[in-house]
Amino acid sequence: MQQVFMNIILNAVDAMNERGDLVIETAHDAEKQQITVRITDTGCGIPQEIREAVFDPFFTTKEPGQGTGLGLAVACRIVQAHGGRTEVESEVGKGTCFTIVLPVRAEAPTDGGTEDAAQPQAAGNPPFAGE
Ligand SMILES: Nc1ncnc2c1ncn2[C@@H]1O[C@H](COP(=O)(O)OP(=O)(O)O)[C@@H](O)[C@H]1O
Ligand SMILES: [Mg+2]
Repeated sequence: MQQVFMNIILNAVDAMNERGDLVIETAHDAEKQQITVRITDTGCGIPQEIREAVFDPFFTTKEPGQGTGLGLAVACRIVQAHGGRTEVESEVGKGTCFTIVLPVRAEAPTDGGTEDAAQPQAAGNPPFAGE
């Protein structure tokens, strides 16, 4: 989860060009059994046309060498693996807000979510055949 927040915060810093406000808010909804983390910046914003694409692997608007386009793709997958979801709201010229919603008690995360749950290897398909 540390990587999730780091990726989103670094993007916010990039978007604000060294000047702006970064606000991190957290909330716990006992009834829904979920926590929400909102990371809001006053950066350049994300145009509507690319708002869905920002989560795609290798999608970047940064100069070659500046961005890999993997930050949000990885963040989104980590959140999903914890049974949560990531949302984005943005207005060009005003800023962006990423919202992460996580279940307090993970019902059925995609991979079981526990350390000791061994990742099953695809049978007969070793990752490094011949080694
Ligand atoms: N807070 C933000 N404000 C404006 N644009 C953003 C923000 N976060 C992400 N983006 C856009 O989403 C793209 C993808 O982000 P990311 O997956 O982290 O890759 P990278 O940072 O390497 O470009 C960025 O290139 C940028 O266009
Ligand atoms: Mg990034």
